[in-house]
Amino acid sequence: MKNIKKILACSLALLMLLVCIGCNNADNGDKNVLTLATSADFPPYEFVDEEGNYAGIDIEVAGLIAEKLGMTLQVENMDFNSIVTSVASGKYDIGMAGLTVSEERLESVNFTDSYAKGVQVIIVKEGSPITTVDDLYATGATYKVGVQLSTTGDIYFSTDIDDGKTTCTVEQFKSGADAVLALNNGQIDCVLIDNEPAKSFVKANAGLKILDTEYANEDYAICLSKENTELLEKVNGALKELIADGKLQEIVDKYIPAESDEAAA
Ligand code: ARG
Repeated sequence: MKNIKKILACSLALLMLLVCIGCNNADNGDKNVLTLATSADFPPYEFVDEEGNYAGIDIEVAGLIAEKLGMTLQVENMDFNSIVTSVASGKYDIGMAGLTVSEERLESVNFTDSYAKGVQVIIVKEGSPITTVDDLYATGATYKVGVQLSTTGDIYFSTDIDDGKTTCTVEQFKSGADAVLALNNGQIDCVLIDNEPAKSFVKANAGLKILDTEYANEDYAICLSKENTELLEKVNGALKELIADGKLQEIVDKYIPAESDEAAA
């Protein structure tokens, strides 16, 4: 009996501690800290570098935005599918994750001006019978298409399945890397994902390639809660300056070498 009481007391103490940590993380109300919700699984936009630090285009751009606003950036890493909802609820100030502006997301969050273009592409194994996007829409096709959960690739393809436009199936993964692993293991037939991470996954995995045909074109932007219109204006202002003075392009060039450089390398 005593033991049970002890266990209960300990559990309660632990719970309270966890709740406290949770409070600290949530909407800290600290005007000097800009909290960034991201999913650091999406190179070159956001990833964890060899030293274990957050790196990538979004992380650096967010850092410069924070600097312009006189704030310190605090990166909060989470699953991609939590970003929009947690920013919408005000838990974090901004969401930046190679995040595509979409009608559906605009219902719950605001977006800044776009700062980059995204292209959805298909990764296959070399020698795959899938040679164009159309193959996924051919009569009777039964390919398994891997996507990262809640990404636009997931939403587009799942919608096409629901609408009867394709007889292929979709497999949702926690990250793009997990989907690529499943492709390597032969569990799925292709991965539908944004072009730049696709390039970096293909580079890191022998025997994979990106199809020449594009699946969709999109705009990336930063999301903020609908309530936070004051911050939206400030972030947009900072972003405009970074675009105008070429700082944003400098960061992009650092992470995405021009095709000619790549060819030369
Ligand atoms: N652009 C796609 C979307 O907005 C994929 C973004 C995935 N980003 C990430 N950090 N995993 O749905």
